[in-house]
Amino acid sequence: MLYSPEFTRPTRLQRLQGAQWQVRGIQVFMKREDERDALLGGNKWCKLLGHLEQARADGMQHLVSVGGLWSNHLHALAHAGQRYGFATTGIVRGEAAHITPTLREAQAAGMQLKFVSREEYRQRHEAGWQAQACVALSHARFIPEGGAGEQSLSGLQQMAAEIAGQVSGEAWLAVAVGSGTTLAGLRRALPGNIRVQGFQAFADASVPERIAALAGSEGWQLHETQGMRQHARLPQALADFMQAFSSEENIELDSVYTVRLMARLDEMIRAGDVPDGCRVICLHSGGLQGRRGHSPALAA
Ligand SMILES: Cc1ncc(COP(=O)(O)O)c(C=O)c1O
Repeated sequence: MLYSPEFTRPTRLQRLQGAQWQVRGIQVFMKREDERDALLGGNKWCKLLGHLEQARADGMQHLVSVGGLWSNHLHALAHAGQRYGFATTGIVRGEAAHITPTLREAQAAGMQLKFVSREEYRQRHEAGWQAQACVALSHARFIPEGGAGEQSLSGLQQMAAEIAGQVSGEAWLAVAVGSGTTLAGLRRALPGNIRVQGFQAFADASVPERIAALAGSEGWQLHETQGMRQHARLPQALADFMQAFSSEENIELDSVYTVRLMARLDEMIRAGDVPDGCRVICLHSGGLQGRRGHSPALAA
């Protein structure tokens, strides 16, 4: 196996202490994947694991992927490349003049950056465009946006096995959803006693179909979240929630994904939409580095 022990040592389930998390016998826990690894923690390591192992097995030396100015994925890929001996190239939607601390750190970890227009970026899911992105590079492989694709399933299976070993009886697993890759991979591998609740950070109508293609249509559900149509900004109500959560629970949330998950879950509990006595495990999918994209005051 490519990875070292930090990826096989279980992360903790931390019980939330605030009174609003324990009404009507409900118990809420945070699965602290953010604590697994400072650079690859959250859902990054498990989505990248299979891609890295396959690339290594196929003799690849260079990994190419895409992302935005504050991309958690490119940031993690750059550091994974540095740690495991791959050259990396990040194709970024935007202009070099707008380089962010996220991209500067990716560069410092050895990633070559290539900036493309919005129009060109729209082609990123096309096989021809992906092949073209690798063509001038030696032994290079394209990794889909966010680490999606079949290769993500092996690492997610590993995380699912860890969660299944920590949770017996009926429970909900609450996960933040972007592309839906994490939800689909976990759903596929988790036992039936764990129902997966996805909280969409972005309005993307193709997500349910993509999840169903990988995981079928049973045992999971999607919920809309506050501000999911304006993710470039952090609505004040979410910024306030994030701050209150941090001081009550001593857990930092990221400003795109986990803040929307926890704020919506809080609303659902208050509205009586979470069954009495339910145990809810919330996956902390990391992404704290991206907080700098919203405000220097939120910098991790
Ligand atoms: C911190 C964080 N949480 C959740 C997600 C959503 O993951 P997915 O695209 O697999 O649904 C992402 C995106 O990769 C992320 O960066």
